[in-house]
Amino acid sequence: MAPTLRVVLCGSVDDGKSTLIGRILYDCRQVSADQMQRIEEDSRRYGTQGGAPDLALLMDGLQDERRQGITIDVAYRGFRTPRRRFIVADAPGHEQYTRNMATGASTADAAVVMVDARKGILPQTARHTRIVAMFGVRHIVLAVNKMDLVAWDRGTFASIDAAYRTVAEEIGLARVASFPVSALSGDNVTRRCAHTPWYRGPGLLAHLEGLEAEPPAARQPFRMPVQYVNRPNPDFRGYCGRIVAGDVSPGDPVRVSPAGTAAEIESIVVWQGTRDSATRGDSVTLTLKPDVAVSRGDVIVAAQDPLEAADQYRARLLWMGDEPLTVGRPYRLKLHTHEVGATVTRIRHRVDIDDGSELAAVQLELNDLGVINLATNRPIPFAPFDESRELGGFILIDRATNATVGAGTITYSLMRAANVKWQDFDITAEVRADLKRQRARCLWLTGLSASGKSTVANLLERHLVSESRHTYLLDGDNVRHGLNRDLGFTEADRVENIRRVAEVARLMVDAGLIVIVSFISPFQSERDFARSLFDKDEFMEIFVDASVETCARRDPKGLYAKAKRGEIRNFTGVDSPYERPERPDLRLDTEKLSPEECVELVIETLV
Ligand code: ADX
Repeated sequence: MAPTLRVVLCGSVDDGKSTLIGRILYDCRQVSADQMQRIEEDSRRYGTQGGAPDLALLMDGLQDERRQGITIDVAYRGFRTPRRRFIVADAPGHEQYTRNMATGASTADAAVVMVDARKGILPQTARHTRIVAMFGVRHIVLAVNKMDLVAWDRGTFASIDAAYRTVAEEIGLARVASFPVSALSGDNVTRRCAHTPWYRGPGLLAHLEGLEAEPPAARQPFRMPVQYVNRPNPDFRGYCGRIVAGDVSPGDPVRVSPAGTAAEIESIVVWQGTRDSATRGDSVTLTLKPDVAVSRGDVIVAAQDPLEAADQYRARLLWMGDEPLTVGRPYRLKLHTHEVGATVTRIRHRVDIDDGSELAAVQLELNDLGVINLATNRPIPFAPFDESRELGGFILIDRATNATVGAGTITYSLMRAANVKWQDFDITAEVRADLKRQRARCLWLTGLSASGKSTVANLLERHLVSESRHTYLLDGDNVRHGLNRDLGFTEADRVENIRRVAEVARLMVDAGLIVIVSFISPFQSERDFARSLFDKDEFMEIFVDASVETCARRDPKGLYAKAKRGEIRNFTGVDSPYERPERPDLRLDTEKLSPEECVELVIETLV
């Protein structure tokens, strides 16, 4: 039997996606008697076929769809015909559900794009096709549905087919097969249609049964990302993972990317014993000869085809976050076995998802597609997405909410950046701090304008200096006169403001100083980023806390008054948000404590 085919179904609401699956399941006898009975009951309650069995109700996981009449999440459904197994993802057609569509597309071998014969190609049709193409779906099947409602008119089919081919070609998709169908009756889906003497091709299902799932493994070099190192006793060390490309046998020469160390496959271990060979899709444990150093996240590859590692990339990104993507903001990135910190360093342009044109953009909003520069905080072995979905596809995760906010594909690495290497020097941070007889630290004060940060920072530095400490004070107002003179108070500018200051503080701690940072730093994700630059005990997040009302009453610079009169925009606490620290190392309540008491608390916490 041919390998399982993963299919993503795309189309607008009411194009008949669920009916198509229902019809296939029904005709392939994949429906049990009690399922049928339930559908008949449901059809009377929610059906759209006037009480007759509504085949659309056959799809699993459609509780919400039944209630609302639309599909709201990806529903997966497995079934088999005598010739093949299928897994079908029903991607919703509603415009705002692009992200679910991407989820379905990211693992699919084929896409069935459904079009209503009466409506023809819609903006969504092009949009879905663009997403399907971006996520590497190789086979496109156009189902022109509801042909019965246009009297099986040959001209209608031909013009939709031609219009779609123009779209597909422009997106760069070569292989498109089109079918004039009625999902409801099954004509040209599971059986020949008496009304289309002009159509001589196979039915849609027969076509899917014959598709090649993936190119044969032999045509691709071997690659296996190491998921974990199995070391049950000192005599055995195996590397576990799933082979994502090519095949492998004992004796094959390999390399460990990114280090490039050469070795040979000693054995292929599976839980029943050992094997003579393994291929793409197999989960195995490999042992190497000699036993070179391999860690989780390394990729074992064919010796003659090493993988590149990089930390700067050009990529395409589909944004799925409710909050817009902000350049410079730290996210977590998952790429095969790696999970690392990452930032989008530049949005090169946004791609109009309907017509493919390139538009200037400073942000990506929900469902936007963009071409970006991306930086990870460690080099990762990868392959361009065109070569490998597994080694070139990634997701971005919001650090605070853990939500997946983006799905992307790596186009290539930015070599210039990859060629900038870290230099190791003999004098370390520790040596520099020892010479000053202190432990270097970053004391990060965050809080509203007028909460008391500068007062506390000033007093704290005086105290430290009086004890012969070597310090430096980085203050928002002051740094904004120099290094950050080019930045204002939009969200993006504040993100960049904090990124730069965190990096400067990092350098100063490296120089052995005790650095006091006094910035509003209103966002948790940037404060977390700052923390991530330091060792555990080097960084202290100190929340200088006073209510907005108190701060507005103090208003030493008259800024709250101006903001309230509308003379300053994006003023923190007035028309720009301040995210209170979730777990500060220390909270200083300046409504209750004097500046001296605050400093005392900091000093106590320090030692
Ligand atoms: S941050 O939000 O990016 O961390 P930062 O600490 O550098 O802000 O700068 C805050 C200082 O800039 C305030 O103390 C205030 O004097 C001044 N300022 C001017 N405009 C604004 C504004 N719109 N919001 C906040 N602070 C402002």
